[in-house]
Amino acid sequence: VKDLVYLNGRFIPSADARISIFDRGFLYGDGVFETMRAYDGRIFRLDEHMERLARSAEIIGLNLPGGPERCADICRQLLLRNEARDALLRLSVTRGEAIGGIGIKRAAEPTVIAHVRPPMPLPDDAYRNGVRAKIVSIRRIPSTSLNPHMKSMNFLNQILARAEAEACCAYDSIMLNQAGLIAETSTANVFFARDRMLSTPSPDCDILLGITRATVLELAAKTGIRCEERAIKPSEIGAFQECFLTSTGIELLPVTRINDSEVGGGVPGPLYERLHSAYRELVMA
Ligand SMILES: Cc1ncc(COP(=O)(O)O)c(C=O)c1O
Repeated sequence: VKDLVYLNGRFIPSADARISIFDRGFLYGDGVFETMRAYDGRIFRLDEHMERLARSAEIIGLNLPGGPERCADICRQLLLRNEARDALLRLSVTRGEAIGGIGIKRAAEPTVIAHVRPPMPLPDDAYRNGVRAKIVSIRRIPSTSLNPHMKSMNFLNQILARAEAEACCAYDSIMLNQAGLIAETSTANVFFARDRMLSTPSPDCDILLGITRATVLELAAKTGIRCEERAIKPSEIGAFQECFLTSTGIELLPVTRINDSEVGGGVPGPLYERLHSAYRELVMA
């Protein structure tokens, strides 16, 4: 595997890639990004990722150089030039160099960066036995402050939430929104199941509209699994028999402990198993 990255129009070795210390992505987290997964040389749901990137850029008033089509092309080329078949790809767009102050009127040209790295699967054990999640005290930034539907580079909210979970030896943090309802984890959406029915927080619960989440909803509909998108209270957790997380990188990951309680007897449940194998089939199709 080669080590080429994309930077502002050129594919170059990562060691040669340099961006300005005045870049607003670095100074303020002022940018948007996508993380994608390639399976056997094909980027899964590339169009959906590019649509979300364009939406994120629009929300922060950032011009996507060349639009989503150009960005998709960069991703495909990056994969080919690195001769990578199974990989994680990230494309980031920042508001470029700061010229003076945070005002965006005089912002420079956006910086566009993309790189690939090998997929980083969790140990088999995490998928076989499930992981532990902790409901953390840090709440999701309210949608009235930052639109949660964009994937921004401003990640401190999630980093601190994850740190709180890790400090308690949990794999990830379940974050509540300002209303005290379940939103998502630091980097994944969350699903629950009970009596053969799936439940996941609805889009108005301050969540990122995950592409894996949408895929799971599709697969559930296709395989006849009922699924509701609704407000979920933390007090309901004890009544669920299954819980799993979804994201591009981890796919579907079972959660078998939340705080100090077991979910579903501490083993991954049947809906998780069915949906994850359907997901694997789909990404390989
Ligand atoms: C906050 C948050 N929620 C959910 C997700 C999952 O989104 P996707 O399935 O599109 O990877 C991510 C992805 O990184 C995320 O950062």
